[in-house]
Amino acid sequence: MSYRHIPVMSAEVLQYLDCRPGKIHVDGTLGGAGHALAIIKKNMPDGLLIGIDQDRDAIRNAEEVLGNYAANVRLFHGNFVRMPDFLSQLKIDGVDSILLDLGLSLHQIESSGRGFSFMADEPLDMRMDVTARIKAEDIVNGAEEKNLRKIFKEYGEERWARQIAREIVAGRRQKKITSSRQLAEIVKAAVPKKATLSQRIHPATRVFMALRIAVNRELDVLASFLDGVLNCLNPKGRLCVISFHSLEDRIVKHRIKTLAKGCTCPPKFPQCVCGRTRMVRVLTPKPVRPTAAEIGKNPMARSARLRAFEKL
Ligand SMILES: C[S@@+](CC[C@H](N)C(=O)[O-])C[C@H]1O[C@@H](n2cnc3c(N)ncnc32)[C@H](O)[C@@H]1O
Repeated sequence: MSYRHIPVMSAEVLQYLDCRPGKIHVDGTLGGAGHALAIIKKNMPDGLLIGIDQDRDAIRNAEEVLGNYAANVRLFHGNFVRMPDFLSQLKIDGVDSILLDLGLSLHQIESSGRGFSFMADEPLDMRMDVTARIKAEDIVNGAEEKNLRKIFKEYGEERWARQIAREIVAGRRQKKITSSRQLAEIVKAAVPKKATLSQRIHPATRVFMALRIAVNRELDVLASFLDGVLNCLNPKGRLCVISFHSLEDRIVKHRIKTLAKGCTCPPKFPQCVCGRTRMVRVLTPKPVRPTAAEIGKNPMARSARLRAFEKL
């Protein structure tokens, strides 16, 4: 199958994951399997790569791309939040590294036909996992106006959330909103003309991103995965997360900070009563960004931020 995606910050990923022969690595977001292929090559001859993706297209593609290494690869279709379950199916207690490269692949945007983009007119679906229950269409046509506003404001940081939610509710009274173009037109009409002229992006960009985050519950899933991630890692095991959205990056940053801090007692306490100890060593005091050269070759990389830690 043809599956397009350009992996971001590949050299940095290999460095922070500390890939070596004999180790067990998990790629929780296989996508086009570009990172996974680079990892398994470093891992051979006796390493293991466990690949997860909630999109079946990504799993089918990975079966082909990683075919030459099949004996050293195990693939799972599902959400990375289920990693502990997948590891226990393999009777593995802990792994040496985990990669999450969040968001969408180019394939999903350009050719999945699921309405992630308004560049083509497609059904308003936006599920990464097509076995999931709720589609974007259900939210757009079923959510109360105040909830639509909240989604656009919180996940899309959309300035015109109120106006857009109002127009969507008015629009869906006339006719059910079922396609990406139809939604993009309603959003465009809701945003004041003057504002659209000064924007560098299409007025519907943030709304589409916000809906996708809501449909796939991306922020909740990330937070709950990070809550339990240490249970999946061996001592000295590493986690590397690439995010493309400031809210995702904030969740990762705060979780790493908490794990690296240990004691949370107020400074005036004479001794620790919380009993928490430092659990991780931070490998990226500041988020790592792609180089200008990489952004030149792959503009999709421009908002990527990589953070990593090592379990103590
Ligand atoms: C940016 S792409 C990953 C690209 C990949 N690193 C590569 O080298 O091609 C993100 C992938 O993660 C998957 N994904 C996003 N959130 C997920 C989740 N919670 N569980 C499983 N897969 C997820 C998407 O379906 C998509 O295929």
